[in-house]
Amino acid sequence: MLKAENLSVNFVVRHNPLVRLKHPDHTIKAVSDVSITLEKGEILGLVGESGSGKTTLARALAGLVRPSAGVVEYKGQDLQKMEDPEFKKYRREVQLMLQDSDATLDPRMRVTGLLEEPLKINRHLNKAEMQQSVSAVMEKTFIPPSLSGRYPVELSGGQRQRVSLARTILVRPEIIIADEPLSGLDTILRYQLLRLMLELKEEYGLSYLLISHDLQMVSSVCSRLAVMYRGKLVEVMGKENISQAVHPYTKMLMAGLALELEDGHDLHHHDEDGCGCGFAGRCPLHLPVCHQEAPPLKMVYENHLCACHLI
Ligand SMILES: Nc1ncnc2c1ncn2[C@@H]1O[C@H](COP(=O)(O)OP(=O)(O)OP(=O)(O)O)[C@@H](O)[C@H]1O
Ligand SMILES: [Mg+2]
Repeated sequence: MLKAENLSVNFVVRHNPLVRLKHPDHTIKAVSDVSITLEKGEILGLVGESGSGKTTLARALAGLVRPSAGVVEYKGQDLQKMEDPEFKKYRREVQLMLQDSDATLDPRMRVTGLLEEPLKINRHLNKAEMQQSVSAVMEKTFIPPSLSGRYPVELSGGQRQRVSLARTILVRPEIIIADEPLSGLDTILRYQLLRLMLELKEEYGLSYLLISHDLQMVSSVCSRLAVMYRGKLVEVMGKENISQAVHPYTKMLMAGLALELEDGHDLHHHDEDGCGCGFAGRCPLHLPVCHQEAPPLKMVYENHLCACHLI
């Protein structure tokens, strides 16, 4: 349904002239040659540590950032070639829920206004129909009527996340790309929100791309899991294969080691020219070839892809 093919997104970091003497302008390969498909009705989990390119990939799939190379296709159509009405339809059907709901909710609007907004933009309803849709979605997302008149600052983190989710649902999307929807919530709220997302998925026939640092949480609900490292996909596997992950980085993530190791490192200063495996410098099992050639993502078992010279 939604497909990325050999997708790359580069950012050029420019410094002012004084800084440039020491640090020349450079290109960050935030997403590098990524091919992945989100099928109808599935939950594709995407994990990887901070800076690995998850949000950039999400933004490219949602049409918010232009790829430097490769294509994004929605229902078989190349985004770059879509005419205006098709592009609008795609922008409605593929919704991005952002990491930080505090920043996405207008602080000057009350809950009711925030929930009416997507209806005004995307659908033409009269006042009564609008009120009906808003109260129906509030009930579904467990937002009590007593919160209707509150501003975002007067809500708890969990309530804000539910308002964000309700706003997304109101647009009647087919795909929700949820970037860290559960961050900043305590464990009980995380599971509540996750359960709510799963219920809404069934009710509306949604598909999700679910992005998170939390491998355990994502793997408990996803149908497939993709692991990203320094802009590249290193492993993609069906739910049934998660316990048999083979990439050394995925194994480290599973053991909870990766984040600590990466602390304080600038992820993009190694392997800038793209030769060699991005993970070779940290890999306990690396071979000489790992520093010379980037391993392609290849099939290791059915429904299981991995990019590693050792496999
Ligand atoms: N607009 C931008 N301009 C320059 N560099 C950027 C921009 N957006 C992201 N980057 C860089 O691209 C890389 C990938 O960033 P991205 O936000 O996609 O990572 P992420 O996996 O979502 O991280 P996190 O888990 O912290 O949210 C990072 O090195 C980041 O600094
Ligand atoms: Mg991110």
